[in-house]
Amino acid sequence: MKENSKKEKIIIIDFGSQVTKLIARRVRELGVFSEVLTLKDLKRIKDFNKIKGIILSGGPATVTVKNFPNIPSRIFLLNIPILGICYGLQLIAINFGGKVKSGRKRREFGRAILLKKNSSLLTKNFYKTNKNYVWMSHQDIVYKLPKYFKKIASTKESPYTIIENKFKKIYGIQFHPEVTHTKNGKILIKNFLFKICKMKKNWKITSEKERIIKNIKNKVKNNKVVCALSGGVDSSVVALLINKAIKKNLVCIMVDTGLMRKNEFKLTYQLFKKKYKLNVKLINASKIFYKKLTNIINPERKRKIIGNLFIKIFEKESKKIKNVKYLAQGTLYPDIIESRSATGSKSSKIKSHHNVGGLPKKMNLKLIEPLREFFKDEVRQLGKSVGLSREIIKKHPFPGPGLAIRIIGKITPEKIKILQEADNIFINELIKDKLYEKIWQAYTALLPVKTVGVMGDSRTYEYICLIRAVKSEDGMTADYFNFSKEFLDKISNKIINGVIGVNRVVYDITSKPPSTIELE
Ligand code: XMP
Repeated sequence: MKENSKKEKIIIIDFGSQVTKLIARRVRELGVFSEVLTLKDLKRIKDFNKIKGIILSGGPATVTVKNFPNIPSRIFLLNIPILGICYGLQLIAINFGGKVKSGRKRREFGRAILLKKNSSLLTKNFYKTNKNYVWMSHQDIVYKLPKYFKKIASTKESPYTIIENKFKKIYGIQFHPEVTHTKNGKILIKNFLFKICKMKKNWKITSEKERIIKNIKNKVKNNKVVCALSGGVDSSVVALLINKAIKKNLVCIMVDTGLMRKNEFKLTYQLFKKKYKLNVKLINASKIFYKKLTNIINPERKRKIIGNLFIKIFEKESKKIKNVKYLAQGTLYPDIIESRSATGSKSSKIKSHHNVGGLPKKMNLKLIEPLREFFKDEVRQLGKSVGLSREIIKKHPFPGPGLAIRIIGKITPEKIKILQEADNIFINELIKDKLYEKIWQAYTALLPVKTVGVMGDSRTYEYICLIRAVKSEDGMTADYFNFSKEFLDKISNKIINGVIGVNRVVYDITSKPPSTIELE
């Protein structure tokens, strides 16, 4: 990743921990610009002028073997404050003559009690008494303190849980201050940024808006940009930002797959065309999508068919527009972090995102990704600052393949209609009862079985509608939402009475893991 060399910042060297991106989040929440870089990126940096602090993340590697990912020793001579977290602490220890061993018996996963041993700038205001609860995830431990370092805190199993070399401004923490399970963890990061690195607050998402717009203007000049607009938060923010930068040279293409929620496509089209006055081309492709999905049951095949068809149609339509040079995408920062390997090892590479937005490279268009430095909640704030309506900003995530992966088994236009009606009732009731914004994602799905019921005096034989609602921070893990019995009663009643084709409603009470949020 190209690092931004113009701004004072903290850099985070990613050794492949699953929670590295949380470090970046915490730093930005504290009002300081930060970037996550790989070791390779670090080795390429020539000018360290704007780098005011370096954080070394955790990771799956161990320093107890011959070849381990290490930072170049010159970095320790730059006089830039360094904070090592977990593997980062072990790296610091080994580089300064400490000793680390694999501690199978002494490994710590989950909550541990941290005991204060000495005072430090890093731990100012961190403890209430002389102990604190922290979140651990490690197998190796530092068992010999490196020379000129001081022990600041320990747990029962790891004697050197926090260490410091005050003179060199190098600090190490064995636990994870970036996760919320560590009580007051953010205070440690805050102390590192402001007391040790002496950073000033320089990051506010809304002040980034003008910079993004200027960058787009400079990059695109008088060329044309195409953008696939779905009406979700990301593509909507991308379209509005680009529109602010280049106005008439942006063409948004909306491909109606017929797999969206009730009226969603129509409303999005009207909003962007009439309210925001964007140049939007609407392509009705539902017939071809239905046709290609006939008799397809396998979820992965459904996803592939939809993804490929979407790309084909988008490509065909954008070829009709003259002088297009750029393709705009709503790639977010977590997508960038997750889809590249931190250390070059295969083990730390997380699955690439399964997003229909992943448009083809062979289109020969250059990419613009105005959101590639931002997290989802930052994108929502950006959306607010470009005047995006609250309904879109607060919209639950919706998967690229749409309702196709919420109709389990074969897809038919009749089933889509049933599902759209049920979903519409469910979502409207959530909004009415002020529950919608308390939930990460809610939807209805149609199960591929019919069961017997009785309505009036007649026997019915109809589909089962499943409702799902989960709480989550990032979609990686999720807990099912605890509705009141009254709400469940109301929903069941409204769906059965309002939707022809459904005679049974069930609530999915599984969390992720072991289930996923979507059913397919
Ligand atoms: P799962 O089902 O894997 O979903 O727990 C996690 C989050 O990702 C969304 N999702 C998708 N989003 N294209 C997308 O853009 C997809 O193919 C896709 N599949 C799942 C899902 O809705 C949830 O928010």
